[in-house]
Amino acid sequence: MTDQVLIFDTTLRDGEQSPGATMSHDEKLEIAEMLDEMGVDIIEAGFPIASEGDFNAVSEIAKLSKNAQICGLSRANFKDIDRCWEAVKHSKRPRIHTFIGTSPLHRAIPNLDMDQMAERIHDCVTHARNLCDNVQWSSMDATRTEWDFLKRTVDIAIKAGATTINIPDTVGYTEPVESADLIKRLIAEVDRADEVIFSTHCHNDLGMATANSLAAVQGGARQIECTINGLGERAGNTALEEVVMAMKVRKDVMPFRTGVDTTKIMNISRRVATVSGFNVQFNKAIVGKNAFAHESGIHQDGMLKNRETFEVMRPEDVGLSGTSLPLGKHSGRAALRDKLEKLGYEMGDNELKDVFVRFKDLADRKKEVFDDDLIALIRQNDTEDDRLKLKDLTVICGMNGPQKATMVLEVDGEDHTTQATGDGPVDATFNAVKALFDHTARLQLYQVHAVTEGTDAQATVSVRMEEDGRIATGQSADTDTVVASAKAYINALNRLIVKREKTAPGSDTAGIKYTDAGE
Ligand code: KIV
Ligand code: ZN
Repeated sequence: MTDQVLIFDTTLRDGEQSPGATMSHDEKLEIAEMLDEMGVDIIEAGFPIASEGDFNAVSEIAKLSKNAQICGLSRANFKDIDRCWEAVKHSKRPRIHTFIGTSPLHRAIPNLDMDQMAERIHDCVTHARNLCDNVQWSSMDATRTEWDFLKRTVDIAIKAGATTINIPDTVGYTEPVESADLIKRLIAEVDRADEVIFSTHCHNDLGMATANSLAAVQGGARQIECTINGLGERAGNTALEEVVMAMKVRKDVMPFRTGVDTTKIMNISRRVATVSGFNVQFNKAIVGKNAFAHESGIHQDGMLKNRETFEVMRPEDVGLSGTSLPLGKHSGRAALRDKLEKLGYEMGDNELKDVFVRFKDLADRKKEVFDDDLIALIRQNDTEDDRLKLKDLTVICGMNGPQKATMVLEVDGEDHTTQATGDGPVDATFNAVKALFDHTARLQLYQVHAVTEGTDAQATVSVRMEEDGRIATGQSADTDTVVASAKAYINALNRLIVKREKTAPGSDTAGIKYTDAGE
């Protein structure tokens, strides 16, 4: 038996079926191109009979794809199959996928008895095979289908000309030992099993989809159906990135190969998350934000000494530029020293001890400590060195704009005054700063929080600014929201000025980098 496992991606069909994950025509084409480029063997591009849009997307993908086989889904009836063929036939390597629910619960819906269903399978697979020499049969809900009947459906499909036999765990019901045994038994007991490829298609309702798919491969399946990020109905499908990386990392127990270029994983994962609107949870295997991030002191110390202490795969293998060691309350002295050195601060043990105490105090109050927090910490809230200081601010606002800000700003020890207008008092204020201190930094985030209740509450304003790939945040509190905004903005600018001297351009946007992400 070959050690090559075909990767059948159904992000654009089963993945798109998850409520709310609808993708536009152009987005589907873009994802299909990425799948093709990453070396996926089969792309299930849609369900052509489902809508005009699905039909057009499948036809277009069939025309454009270079290497992958392009597959469309069809229920087990001639009309669906014909429509599917019309869409996929443009591909250099078309495939028709047809299915029917074979378990007792699913047989009851079209109200077919076993003999009638057997006949339907025979007729539909034969019809599909007359159109296309690459036909996949799926006995939907196979894992809850009576063994004898499942075997019969598979037997009929093979005799009628199916080239791939898919055994779906439609409701995520099976478990790994059962999953492996089912495939093994089918291969052993069905006639001419060696003439077809057995495929596994697992849903994640009990969180076992990836384990079940890999177990099916151990049992003899040579095609895994999966989606990027595990996108799919309910709890989703087997995640492509998980099965591919598991086979790569555990070759010792799973000596199988795929043609997928794993370094493209992060890129496509991010794109699918964006276009589907399904964000990837932080702790998701392989593609989660935290999959290669370590905050605890023991882990960070280990990672700095030998990456393999806490990582079973290299971030570069999935398209990341490196591991991230975010500083937080669990971080230790080794990570702090490492980070400070990267920021250009060499310090002796005593000085580090002192900074470490202040760092822990800050980390207790703040989820993540960023570079500019550390710089501020080292400067010990000493604003003496700040190049910019707000000396005075008067803002006129109301219903009859434009709003006007008059500002006195000390720049390098000298007072400068200006008047600026803007679309609202905050905009006018920020324009005044820009007029007095020319800079190219872009405002990335502006947030206002009321610290206490009531109209006299202190407002805390946070801003984040970016300039040449360096990011700085600034914060300030005041009972006057506009004054707090001005101070926060100036605070961020002061930090950015320090960063210009201490760090290289791009130092903040390169922390977690995704190849070809264009960021
Ligand atoms: O989950 C399932 O059974 C399916 C089939 C259409 C293959 O998606
Ligand atoms: Zn499915």
